[in-house]
Amino acid sequence: MSDIKNEISRRRTFAIISHPDAGKTTLTEKLLLYGRAIQSAGSIKGKQNDKHAVSDWMEIEKKRGISITSSVMQFEYDGYCINILDTPGHQDFSEDTYRTLTAADSVVMVIDAAKGIEPQTRKLFKVCAMRHIPIFTFINKMDREARDSFELLDELESEFGIGTYPMNWPIGCGVDFKGVYDREKQRILTFADAHAGGTRIEAIECDINDTEKLDSLIGMYSRQNLCDELELVEGAGYEFDLDLVRSGKLSPVFFGSALNNFGIEPFLENFLKMTTEPLPHRSGEKIIEPTEERFSAFVFKIQANMNKAHRDRIAFMRICSGKFERSHEYFHVQGKKSIKLSRPQQMMAQEREVIDTAYAGDIIGVFDPGIFSIGDTICDESLKCEYAGIPTFAPEHFAIVEQIDSLKRKQFDKGITQIAQEGAIQMFFIPNSGMERVYVGVVGTLQFDVLQFRMESEYGVKYNRIDTPLSLVRFAEMKDGSELSDLNLMSTTKHVIDRKGRDLLLFNAEYEINWALDKNENLVLKEFSQLEEFE
Ligand code: G4P
Repeated sequence: MSDIKNEISRRRTFAIISHPDAGKTTLTEKLLLYGRAIQSAGSIKGKQNDKHAVSDWMEIEKKRGISITSSVMQFEYDGYCINILDTPGHQDFSEDTYRTLTAADSVVMVIDAAKGIEPQTRKLFKVCAMRHIPIFTFINKMDREARDSFELLDELESEFGIGTYPMNWPIGCGVDFKGVYDREKQRILTFADAHAGGTRIEAIECDINDTEKLDSLIGMYSRQNLCDELELVEGAGYEFDLDLVRSGKLSPVFFGSALNNFGIEPFLENFLKMTTEPLPHRSGEKIIEPTEERFSAFVFKIQANMNKAHRDRIAFMRICSGKFERSHEYFHVQGKKSIKLSRPQQMMAQEREVIDTAYAGDIIGVFDPGIFSIGDTICDESLKCEYAGIPTFAPEHFAIVEQIDSLKRKQFDKGITQIAQEGAIQMFFIPNSGMERVYVGVVGTLQFDVLQFRMESEYGVKYNRIDTPLSLVRFAEMKDGSELSDLNLMSTTKHVIDRKGRDLLLFNAEYEINWALDKNENLVLKEFSQLEEFE
């Protein structure tokens, strides 16, 4: 196998998603510990540990105890080169998560065993199902009181319309948690002296029919329960089918406890075996294979000021094909220019390392002097490809933001434009007026706080924010292609223009939309494409 093919075939790129507090950070950390990518737990988030520099606006995360930024981590394990894409857990940042998912080949969903599916997981799961991304479920916190395991699986199946296949089965939960039964290897993974309350993990091979040995390991009560439950699992559950897993129709489920390191290693090993190598990407009518030797990538995320020590903007790209070489010039399709990607780097939580080469499946961050937008393609010029853009979510909250200090006009314009380019907010202009007053649209209101915090701390600008009850947005066109003027609209409906110069109407409620269509027979309203798929 050629060097490129070999490198690509050992890549595994996945995103990890969960509702806040389900244990995503803990699981990620444990995976990194297995890969020896970090030395101690608590190294990833600034939540409990300030050892690593965190960005200015991550202060908000710390204050609120939520994760709103996402980072990328790479580590080696057992010959594999693994890229983990961390995603923000808070629902106000689901757009960011959605973009991150476009860069992943599979998803690990962490669920709190006591809570089951929570709103945030529900929404994200739908995105995965829509894109047929393979989904691996880790049901965490089995060392605490948990909901009935069958009930949890039923919930996954009925809510998401996919099958589940438990790879292991928990033996009790909470204080009675004795470990798990590995269905494939038909062995029990238990704590040493589990019966006597021991906590040292030890993989003990034990035939499920060896009653005597089982009794001595986990006690008669747990053994009986386990056997009854396994009978039900084998009888009523789905058959394992790797094709269904890889097409996102069957989710392998692992029970464990990230905090106690329980079930992490078998999870990682099985996951790596089942998940796919980097997948091909579509460019118009063409399918670009990852093993195509010419480089191509798309930008899925832009983040500014990640680190106080580096005041800059980083564009994150997912490499779709070939090998990236630092010394080469590549073609920025949307900018129609050849460029050298400067300071290409890979991330390890908050730490960066400048790299010379990277391969399909990898994520690299490059310095962005303000030329990239989300969804842009960068490729070897001869490859001539252009990956489909990343759709934006329809904002659901709108506010008018107005400058207060005319001496800081430049900073205001720059700040709000850059933050909008990153996709952290959407900005709309009022026709025939400048940038002193603009509409800002967000999917979740926490984004307003992030905007304010960043404008003050990064650009030194304060502004007035006037919240509005507007909540619906539609692209607007006239059937005859004429200008959008002289429309008969309710006084509460607002006409705005986006950064690409497109006309939009903002409404308070559905009846305003109906009014606009009734009174203006030439008017055509279109929804944000993504919105339909999300509802
Ligand atoms: P998140 O990234 O999904 O938001 O969750 P995170 O890993 O930060 O975990 C949330 C809380 O749940 C943490 O407790 C963490 O220690 C705990 N936790 C994670 N996995 C397990 C598990 O398997 N069992 C139990 N019992 N707890 C688990 P915290 O009190 O918020 O923080 P900490 O001070 O304990 O670190």
